[in-house]
Amino acid sequence: MTEKELQKLMDSMTLEEKVGQLVQCLAGQFISNEMEMTGPEGELLPKEELNRVMGSVLTFEDARQAKALQDQHLAADPKKIPLLLMLDVIHGLRTTYPIPLAMGCSFDEKLMTECADMARKESAACGVHVTFNPMVDTARDARWGRILETCSEDPLINGRMGAALVRATQREDLSNPENIACCVKHYAAYGAGEGGRDYNTVELSERILRETYLPAYKACLDAGARLVMPSFNSLNGIPSVANQWLMNDVLRREWGFEGVVISDYNAVGELVAHGVAENLRDAARMAMEAGCDIDMVMNAYYLHLANLVRDGEVREEAIDRAVMRVLRLKNELGLFENPYHGADEEKEKELYLCPAHREIARRAAEESAVLLKNDGILPLTDGTRKLALIGPFAEERHLVGFWSRPGAWKDAVTLPEGIRQLKPEIEITTARGCGADIGDTDESGIAAAADAARKADTVILALGEPEYDSGEGRSRAELTLPGPQMKLARAVLKANPRTAVVLFNGRPLVLTELAEIAPAILEMWYPGTEAGSAAARLLFGEANPCGKLSVSLARGAGQYPMAYNHPNTGRPKPEPDSQAFPFTSCYLDMTNRPLYSFGYGLSYTEFEYQALETDRDRMTPEETIRVRITVKNTGSRAGKETVQLYMRDRVASVVQPVQQLIDYKKIRLEPGETRTVEFEIREEQLRFWSFDCRHISEAGEFEISTGYADHLKLTKTFRLEK
Ligand code: NOJ
Repeated sequence: MTEKELQKLMDSMTLEEKVGQLVQCLAGQFISNEMEMTGPEGELLPKEELNRVMGSVLTFEDARQAKALQDQHLAADPKKIPLLLMLDVIHGLRTTYPIPLAMGCSFDEKLMTECADMARKESAACGVHVTFNPMVDTARDARWGRILETCSEDPLINGRMGAALVRATQREDLSNPENIACCVKHYAAYGAGEGGRDYNTVELSERILRETYLPAYKACLDAGARLVMPSFNSLNGIPSVANQWLMNDVLRREWGFEGVVISDYNAVGELVAHGVAENLRDAARMAMEAGCDIDMVMNAYYLHLANLVRDGEVREEAIDRAVMRVLRLKNELGLFENPYHGADEEKEKELYLCPAHREIARRAAEESAVLLKNDGILPLTDGTRKLALIGPFAEERHLVGFWSRPGAWKDAVTLPEGIRQLKPEIEITTARGCGADIGDTDESGIAAAADAARKADTVILALGEPEYDSGEGRSRAELTLPGPQMKLARAVLKANPRTAVVLFNGRPLVLTELAEIAPAILEMWYPGTEAGSAAARLLFGEANPCGKLSVSLARGAGQYPMAYNHPNTGRPKPEPDSQAFPFTSCYLDMTNRPLYSFGYGLSYTEFEYQALETDRDRMTPEETIRVRITVKNTGSRAGKETVQLYMRDRVASVVQPVQQLIDYKKIRLEPGETRTVEFEIREEQLRFWSFDCRHISEAGEFEISTGYADHLKLTKTFRLEK
């Protein structure tokens, strides 16, 4: 349709019909549906009336349901305006790839593109028009269970990965039934909730908000994302969905966003619980005034918007603007001509878990695993015959992580399945040892597990955090391995020191004791469908670990929030960092440093950083500096290395981070191969948000280094001249 035709359509609509376009219902309200909800269900409303006018639906199961929902609605709607169907496809639809936090550790946008591409194809076949992805909330607190949904504690990685996902999901033309639209979330700073508690209050200066949190959302919008979801939290006193500054001033005016804003689940209704709206009617008015186009579930708009207009409290033009945005999106997706879009039962069968998709998922799982420690026992290439697979995750199939589709875990490859496929000659015994649930105290299986360890020549100890203990509403105050897992680890390691630990978890855990006693630790996160095959290939050396931490791993939960690029203080702790030093910014009982730093990760080969060279030592804002970093693979196998470029602004008008990643490149080197990686430094990368919130650079000295956070090397300086 042309813009004129869309306008004509809208002009023909009654006020109730217009409001309907701004209402999103659960598929389960209309169709029997087994999907889990992440919030309360709305009060029962007249289904027939709702079905006639509603504009969009979330959380449906498959192409058959998608078509049924569309048919049912179109048969009832005299205006024949198709529904928008939305779903949370966060790390794959049926073929699940690693959780976003793991994907961040791959430092690989090309890999993200491949994964997003496969998720797009499967989603389109399922009938999805909009995915609530990417989530690019910068998160620095592992107590927050939703840290698994973000790629990093660093906005640069979040922005790059998020933008790659948007480009691969939407591609050029949304009317192509193979493409779907992206909704960036959760705008803004949802990851900064106090105490790491989900949905909690966020208080941030505008300067830090702009420096650390906003850039990743903006990068996704620059990549073309069509929708934005405001976050549940209040930001400096105002819940995002009613935050006029955030939505009208920054998002719409400053950034020029013209797409659709959709509330999070019941977030409009929650304005009442927040205590900023007296009732649901008030809440509907406030969200509308802040430019929230669609109300996701709970019916604040459905019940009150029309009356608010009739009573003169909301201007009909505001409703019209929102409706036009929704209609434009439907039109762009080609729904008026083809309301099913890509929904296709045959394609679902053909694509779901097909070998090509499984291969991508396996590669992604391999490339996002991080080898945290290796005293030399990995890879297990020296003739393991009798292997004991021990621990609560030894035979676990729930390895796909929160936000995978219901039942997706059933398709995951377990560790023994992966190992048997790769090494059929190895004799495997298994022992669970104990559970991994919070509060689980049953230690009765530990002795038998230790016995199994003793009888084996090699042990793989699979520990972690149950799949549904990280994710939405899953904050934790303690970050140790839950249940008696550390007791199991002590017993097994004592019985057989030739033990490699494999971890499956959705958030950074505190591994301080484990790192002291275990000779090798491989962090797999939640790797998705191909979990067991990827882990087996890494453990037995068919694949070489190359993930680098995109989040810091703390030594104790008390260190959070924590980020490698924290601002300097007037009393930095002196190096070496071996003991507490009173009257500096430190803890008496723990060092400031994480156990494992951002950017860290081992390989089965060795990389030597030979040189960091620059083509000049001063630049003006119009000039650039070329940086060349030379790396050699000095080990005996091929491997991938992420070459990281850090910057430090020595003196500035506001306190600067002690280190800041400004670029990175992942390369693959054959044994003995040397490669020089080139970066270009532009003035724009040297900018920061000033005290009065201007994005500026200042003349002066800058340091650049490589290596990884807290372990920088080959530092050089240059001057920016103005
Ligand atoms: C609540 C979550 O916060 C959000 O991320 C998700 O997209 C919606 N529910 C829809 O399921």
